[in-house]
Amino acid sequence: MAKNGQGQHRQHQVLKEKIAEYDHQYHVLDQPQISDFEYDQLFSELLAFEKAHPELDLSDSPTQRVGASPLDAFQKMPHRIAMLSLSNSYSPEDITNFDERVRKALRSEETVQYFCEPKFDGLAIELIYEKGLLVRALTRGDGLVGEDVTTNIKTIKSIPLRLKTSNPPSLLEVRGEVLIFKKDFAKLNESQQEAGLVTFANPRNAAAGAIRQLDSKIAASRPLRFFAYALGDKEGFDPKSQSELEDQLENWGLPMPQEKNLRQTALGPEECISYYHRIEKLRSELPFDIDGVVIKVNSFRLQEDLGLVARSPRWATAAKYKPSQAETQIEDIQVQIGRTGALTPVAIMKPVKVGGVTITHATLHNQDEIDRKDVRIGDFVMIQRAGDVIPDIMEVLLAKRPKNSVPFVIPKNCPSCGSLAEKAEEEVVSRCVNPLCPSIVKESLKHFVSRRAMNIDKVGDKLIEALVDAGLVHFFADFYLLKKSDLLEKLERQGEKSAENIITSIEKSRKTSLAKLIYAFGIRFVGEQTAKALADHFGTLDRLLEADEVSLLSVPDIGPKVASSVLSWIQNPKIVKEVHRLMDQNIEVEKPQRNQNGKLSGLSFLITGTLSIKRNEAQEIIEANGGKIQSAVSSKLNYLVAGSDPGSKLVKAESLGVAVIDWEQVLGLIEK
Ligand code: IVH
Repeated sequence: MAKNGQGQHRQHQVLKEKIAEYDHQYHVLDQPQISDFEYDQLFSELLAFEKAHPELDLSDSPTQRVGASPLDAFQKMPHRIAMLSLSNSYSPEDITNFDERVRKALRSEETVQYFCEPKFDGLAIELIYEKGLLVRALTRGDGLVGEDVTTNIKTIKSIPLRLKTSNPPSLLEVRGEVLIFKKDFAKLNESQQEAGLVTFANPRNAAAGAIRQLDSKIAASRPLRFFAYALGDKEGFDPKSQSELEDQLENWGLPMPQEKNLRQTALGPEECISYYHRIEKLRSELPFDIDGVVIKVNSFRLQEDLGLVARSPRWATAAKYKPSQAETQIEDIQVQIGRTGALTPVAIMKPVKVGGVTITHATLHNQDEIDRKDVRIGDFVMIQRAGDVIPDIMEVLLAKRPKNSVPFVIPKNCPSCGSLAEKAEEEVVSRCVNPLCPSIVKESLKHFVSRRAMNIDKVGDKLIEALVDAGLVHFFADFYLLKKSDLLEKLERQGEKSAENIITSIEKSRKTSLAKLIYAFGIRFVGEQTAKALADHFGTLDRLLEADEVSLLSVPDIGPKVASSVLSWIQNPKIVKEVHRLMDQNIEVEKPQRNQNGKLSGLSFLITGTLSIKRNEAQEIIEANGGKIQSAVSSKLNYLVAGSDPGSKLVKAESLGVAVIDWEQVLGLIEK
């Protein structure tokens, strides 16, 4: 038994480490080594293994990243070493003053070596590793006492749950910044908007909001990242400098920005100032927001000599960049139609450079926003790239307002198809409700091909516009009916090789998972998580199409709003016809990932004889509830499900001591 236990421990260890390594490659190095599907398989394997062996240690298991039960409140926890703040300034000359202060305090004429790095614009977090295991994560709080946000932090896939070393220090407190990448932020806001939820002003607010969630499942659904940059308390680890610290942290698997030359040592203030300017030029191309650079004395011995002034260390300073603002004029206000029909006003402006990027568009959100700011066509405005990504109209320069300008009102009719837009009482936006509206169709198709949906990577937004305008694609199914010759004959400037790539990428997408397919349909309020829950619950598309309100409401995490949206979607005959037309194109749906929280998960079944329902239906029900279907009787089988005329399998099961049950007992297990 002990030996067996050890074997299981080993096997568990191997699986955990394998997944941790794939997580590191994907989320830290940005170099995935296996497909999402293979990863999901491996993950389910781990889940099943842990379910079957509840005695195993889960503290560093990747399965703990999905989020835990909601908390009532965060526990307050003192920091062993205070988390300080940085003195900061907006001008590079202050770097020279900082260097003078440093040398004066050190009573030294020698050139000081600094370590320069970006000032990440997120929120500061401390990770506490004991003997290599992540045991706690705290917010900065007031610097002395933080809040325990461990369950939220554990959902961040780039943060190692265990350090990558066989010889970890007994204590390591790593400080760093939680943030959201710009591209992930854009997608997050899009899906928040679609779901009718609040949108965030900038990635920092979105990241801070996620960490403040008492329900870690919400944090798990947000694309959070982490970068390490400082040390708190430590035992059994004694780096000599900031550069040595960061190298070691990186080796232990802690995430650091992957861009080359983003962090560097610098001799004296001049090199720090050129670093400041160099990074300012890079700033707009970085995948994440920074609001300046941090200059640190590299040597930890010198840092100690320098000590603190008030709540800031004397050995570091932040040199911030000025917020990027500029003046321009609004030439037009256009109303765009989103996939869910929402009419969104967008200001089209005279091109202007803000922080190194040319800006021509700014969203005006909705009529309430337009009214609040009284933005009109022809107005001169100050725009700012808030949080570095979305340009925002800060203020209208009323003194420059052209005479006879008029307030802007979003039209009552959809500018694309002309049908009357509707506004639900509780909503701020009005929507076009014509499912055949060309704009909605185009947006639906763009969503359908997107990476996390059908992943048709060679079909981009421009191509979709062209395909619809050329009458080649009306809806989902038409992608799969396209021929190379169609593209070459009907599209302008379509090259042979690229046409071939388009067709291949469409072909490849025929094979997908049920969750991705459901997500790809773009049903309102059905994001990836909900699509997965629906796939797990219903198991097949046909069963989803037959769902009613009661069955939808029995899906975990689905409430009346989502249920009614799904219901009106599956009850729309035009949609159902399109879905069938699509499924006629040899779409190969992989069996859904087994339901990890299902009543039958971790259990294996084999059916023999004739049951009261069809065998394949019985199998689907077992799988939809997380059970696994086995093909032969063995001692590992948990249950043989026997109907009438069971045959030799029953004899074998009985001889091996496998439990034999009937179909009603299976239903009993599910309902328990
Ligand atoms: S070092 C003594 N390095 O800036 C302070 N901080 O004003 C040690 N921050 O709360 C922090 N990027 O949230 C350091 N590369 C970086 C940073 C950084 C962002 C933030 C951090 C801290 C604030 C200090």
